[in-house]
Amino acid sequence: MDLTRAEEAILNGEEGEGRQKAMELVTALGKIYGAESLVDITSAHLSGASYKTIGDGGLKYLEDMVAGGAKVSVPSTLNPVGMDRTRWREMHVTEAFAQKQLRIIDLYGSMGIKTTCSCTPYTGANVPKLGDHVAWAESSALSFVNSFIGARTNREGGPGALAAAILGKTANYGLHLDKNRKPTVVIDADIDGSVFSYSLLGQAVGMSIGTGVPYFKGIKPQVEEAKALSAAMAASGSIALYHAEGTTPEAGNFDVSDLEVIHIGEKELKAAYDKLNVADDVELIAIGCPHLTEKEMHQIASFLKGKKKVRKDVEIWFCTSAEIRDKCPDDVRIMEEFGPVLADTCMVVAPIEGSFSRTGTNSAKAGNYLPTLCSQKAMCRDISALLGAVM
Ligand code: F3S
Repeated sequence: MDLTRAEEAILNGEEGEGRQKAMELVTALGKIYGAESLVDITSAHLSGASYKTIGDGGLKYLEDMVAGGAKVSVPSTLNPVGMDRTRWREMHVTEAFAQKQLRIIDLYGSMGIKTTCSCTPYTGANVPKLGDHVAWAESSALSFVNSFIGARTNREGGPGALAAAILGKTANYGLHLDKNRKPTVVIDADIDGSVFSYSLLGQAVGMSIGTGVPYFKGIKPQVEEAKALSAAMAASGSIALYHAEGTTPEAGNFDVSDLEVIHIGEKELKAAYDKLNVADDVELIAIGCPHLTEKEMHQIASFLKGKKKVRKDVEIWFCTSAEIRDKCPDDVRIMEEFGPVLADTCMVVAPIEGSFSRTGTNSAKAGNYLPTLCSQKAMCRDISALLGAVM
């Protein structure tokens, strides 16, 4: 790989141990994936923030990075952690977990990272522009910014994104290059247009193709729909970029007339739904994967207004960012009659397995991860069906 003199100096440790370690990691990834050089990035979004997922080994890694003087050199935001940083007792989180989690947040903060703790930073805290090279971890968010915004990122892991944030550079391969952003298959989608149908569509496409760059015909996603679609395809497959005809910024750049066409309609959505629905009753309903937008907060509050929760044996959590929660005090007041509106966290990265065994969600992404990462039997329905069942 061609490194500039300045990059070589970082690799030789001339700018401290933290930057040296970061350069070692980024260049090692670049060699594995055949990058010819590094590319400057304008932002990073970091995952690996929940104590539940990184454990004491991850905490030690972060302590070492901070001790080595590591600081980010581009605007960087942080993914959800294992608890709401102030309301963790309402989530049945133990004191021991909470102390470690708060330490992890502090460590990220001391490297200069905005501890937004949300998987939807693109709604406010961190918004890339078309053509920007970025290094984002968090599969749903990176797919959203690649596809809906037209920024460029690979599917970074937590350490790779942190290293790139420290350097302000990442290895120039994969989705940073024009040639890898071309569609590989056309998806002829026949859905009802609800956000939940986008989630099932993503599940079905991930189950069908697994990987690649789908080009959708027949859909017109806006932010909430694109958020659901991105999350679902990243979880049921490993899709990090898609195009939607007439909607996403790069879709018009490609001739797709020679590509294979796959139809996704009622039969495929039913198979996706069946895969995600195992539980027939729940103890927890958790909504907000990815984190709820302002529009979704309004919609949920207006659905709940004037209703009463009758099933006291079912807890309800709403997950969003602190920024959105602060923006919607009237919605929060209505929603809190049903359950806490939590910031900083979500049902997957929180240690819910200590308190629940059956969880309902409206998200195909959570529907995939609740069984594997949280030992839950999952139910996956649209929001009105989930909440309607406890009223
Ligand atoms: Fe976000 Fe958690 Fe879902 S990080 S995308 S709410 S699994």
